[in-house]
Amino acid sequence: MSAKKKRNHIRQAKMSDAKEILRLIRYWAEKGKLLPRGLNDIYERLRDFVVYESASGKILGIVSLAVIWENLGEVRSLVVAEDAQSKGIGKALVRHCVKTAKTVGIKHLFALTYVPEFFAKLGFKETDKQELPQKIWGDCVRCYKFPDCDETAVSIWLDDESA
Ligand SMILES: CC(C)(COP(=O)(O)OP(=O)(O)OC[C@H]1O[C@@H](n2cnc3c(N)ncnc32)[C@H](O)[C@@H]1OP(=O)(O)O)[C@@H](O)C(=O)NCCC(=O)NCCS
Repeated sequence: MSAKKKRNHIRQAKMSDAKEILRLIRYWAEKGKLLPRGLNDIYERLRDFVVYESASGKILGIVSLAVIWENLGEVRSLVVAEDAQSKGIGKALVRHCVKTAKTVGIKHLFALTYVPEFFAKLGFKETDKQELPQKIWGDCVRCYKFPDCDETAVSIWLDDESA
């Protein structure tokens, strides 16, 4: 019997992915595209991460879905490897987050981002940060950019027909 052919797929992150997740985040954080994260944070939050793995076993993209408060979730640390961009991987990762968020009962999903146009293609709308007080008084106040955050908040209500 022939071995099952592997395909590109999204899967739960494992411990053995943590350093590659760190490398991908660092690469884009150094270019100012998202906030940096430490290895400790990645280990603590490992269960929030999924990875997009190629048929040959290479990690081409990552994202994490964080629960912030009752009904509120955040898409974090979305990155796609430079040589794998514009192939729909980012979209697939965010769609995966939306699906998981619906499964666990998150009603309002947001991201803080420098690429609101990308999220707009997935139905997210620009949102006033004041509508996300649990995020601001939880994580943002500890961020080195606070209170001069230059990221745009975008969000989607998952009970909307379009979500
Ligand atoms: C932003 C990012 C995740 C997009 O991933 P990707 O796999 O290249 O994007 P996709 O191929 O899934 O693109 C989906 C759609 O968004 C559009 N898009 C992608 N990047 C975009 C950008 N920077 N600005 C506007 N639109 C963008 C694509 O043109 C595509 O449109 P289409 O559906 O009409 O064809 C990726 O470019 C990346 O990792 N960038 C560096 C890190 C970063 O900015 N992360 C976001 C932090 S919130």
